[in-house]
Amino acid sequence: MSANDLDALRKEIIDAAAAAQSPQALDSVRVGALGKKGKITERMKGLGKLDGDARKAAGQALNALKNEVAGAIEARKAALEDAALDARLATESIDISLPIRAEAQGRVHPISQATDEVVSIFGEMGFTVAEGPDIENDWYNFTALNIPPEHPARQMHDTFYLAADDREGAGGEEKDQPGVLLRTHTSPVQIRTMQSVSPPIRILVPGRTYRCDSDMTHTPMFHQFEGLVIDRSTHMGHLKGCLIEFCRAYFEVEDVPVRFRPSHFPFTEPSAEVDIGCTHTRDGIEIGAGDDWLEILGCGMVHPKVLANCGIDPEEFQGFAFGMGAERIAMLKYGIPDLRTFFDSDLRWLRHYGFVPLEIPSLTGGLGG
Ligand code: PHE
Repeated sequence: MSANDLDALRKEIIDAAAAAQSPQALDSVRVGALGKKGKITERMKGLGKLDGDARKAAGQALNALKNEVAGAIEARKAALEDAALDARLATESIDISLPIRAEAQGRVHPISQATDEVVSIFGEMGFTVAEGPDIENDWYNFTALNIPPEHPARQMHDTFYLAADDREGAGGEEKDQPGVLLRTHTSPVQIRTMQSVSPPIRILVPGRTYRCDSDMTHTPMFHQFEGLVIDRSTHMGHLKGCLIEFCRAYFEVEDVPVRFRPSHFPFTEPSAEVDIGCTHTRDGIEIGAGDDWLEILGCGMVHPKVLANCGIDPEEFQGFAFGMGAERIAMLKYGIPDLRTFFDSDLRWLRHYGFVPLEIPSLTGGLGG
């Protein structure tokens, strides 16, 4: 095997590798040279026939050729792969100037969002949602709740009456006829629930309420969340634990200070108003430890007379109730400064303060807001 021979072989293989236009063609070149029956392999096998120095010299030359050829094939392989990638990229190009998929336009109104959040918090505590009619009568809205006809609390409620209220001129039976009105709070749903289901009761009532009042902080229609728990041994400790837990979960502030301040409602005894800690900052109100308090809800132990009015024995059952303004807690959490904007139907406002429909609030998935 002469040096010329080897040079010719080198040229042949390296030319073939350089000419290969595909990985498959290149692979046949490799097999033809370095495979089991390849030209270089065959020559290596022939080394055994030589002896001594001749074998050593020929072996070294063949090894050098083998390495050179293998290197040339590798290099060609890399070049072919690069070219293939370039070709692919050229056809698969992504037009990054295309706009992203159209943005969802609809937004969830902050009142719906607050409702979903509050329902999910109380739902986790075992409450179910209950509802009642917006159009009520005197008995459900007032009398059954221990607010008799002459009670001063009726004045505070600024009631919208739907039918002429002729009670003043009337006497006898007519005096007791129920006036038809727009409910001034969600508390009548306490009565309707206690009349229709027997304890234990654990309900949360989101709903619209109406009062004849309109200024910076009042709108004629607003929303409330009412809660009612009735069982044999429910006590004030349960009320406190439940509402403290609610405040933490809703405002998403783990150690928000909660204060129970003695108050009065005709349908609860004892009664309290709940304040949460806050700080007034330059940009508004920050919920959490601070030097100020914000009133957020009314509550108390259900008055025995209310239980009796619904046919529940107050000697056997007791429980607690609470009520809060939905707009108020929504404004505090989402930083909405003006109550009246809730009902302006201004799309710019809704786009700003509204919520993305697919982000459904849950305690585990995050309440949002
Ligand atoms: N109904 C009361 C209101 O509208 C709130 C309340 C509900 C207070 C339940 C105590 C218990 O002001």
